[in-house]
Amino acid sequence: MLYYLVATIYVLVCFLLLIVVLLQQGKGGDMASAFGGGGSQTAFGARQGATVLSKATAVLGAYDFSGARTIMDVGGGNGSMTIAILERTPEVRGLVVDLPYIEGPAKERIRAAGLESRMRFEPVNFFERVPQGADVQMLKFILHDWNDEESVQILKNCRAAIAPDGRLVAVEMVVPEQIQPDFVHVMDLNMLVMTGGLERTAKEYETLFAKAGFRLSRVVPTESPFSVIEARPV
Ligand SMILES: C[S@@+](CC[C@H](N)C(=O)[O-])C[C@H]1O[C@@H](n2cnc3c(N)ncnc32)[C@H](O)[C@@H]1O
Repeated sequence: MLYYLVATIYVLVCFLLLIVVLLQQGKGGDMASAFGGGGSQTAFGARQGATVLSKATAVLGAYDFSGARTIMDVGGGNGSMTIAILERTPEVRGLVVDLPYIEGPAKERIRAAGLESRMRFEPVNFFERVPQGADVQMLKFILHDWNDEESVQILKNCRAAIAPDGRLVAVEMVVPEQIQPDFVHVMDLNMLVMTGGLERTAKEYETLFAKAGFRLSRVVPTESPFSVIEARPV
């Protein structure tokens, strides 16, 4: 009962916000930009650490990154997730790609973690390209920021750069096929309001990947509301 009350209030607030956002902007973007860009982006980047780590634990508990050679964290922010993976998998190397605004905080985190010899940051606009050669490309909380057309563009750039035996690992909430009360629907609306993005079903991810030359290979649930959605190049 409480769930429905909270959800209803949240939905109403989201609709009001949606109208305001549509009136003011009329365009999409990622969460960092949604917080206002510029200095707000930097603050968003600095805040990422704590929330990322709690989700990293759930992801690492469910999905095995050992056996990877180089993990490229596409839109990897300040590198917190990659640092968490590299601390558990000593043989793996890491590359974080994100916009230039977060280069300083990311490099500082890499240095503080003592991982400069295995991990680096490269400023990249993932709508233009991603660096070649990684065998694991991770997109954590990226695709839900963007509409289908934008997501396919990002995925096509990943496909052009992935190692032939590589895998793409997306971490997202997955909308159940059967309609049922689920927090993911609140998040779906939240993404629409904040970024113009959306949460998707596994089938919708499969379609998105196929348009970019990937085949969805499996969806691995975690102890958190987030799943690991794995795809292979075809
Ligand atoms: C929701 S955050 C996710 C960050 C990180 N993957 C995590 O899980 O905490 C989205 C990230 O995408 C990055 N981003 C947005 N647009 C980008 C672009 N065009 N090229 C590269 N990174 C971008 C943002 O700077 C931000 O770090």
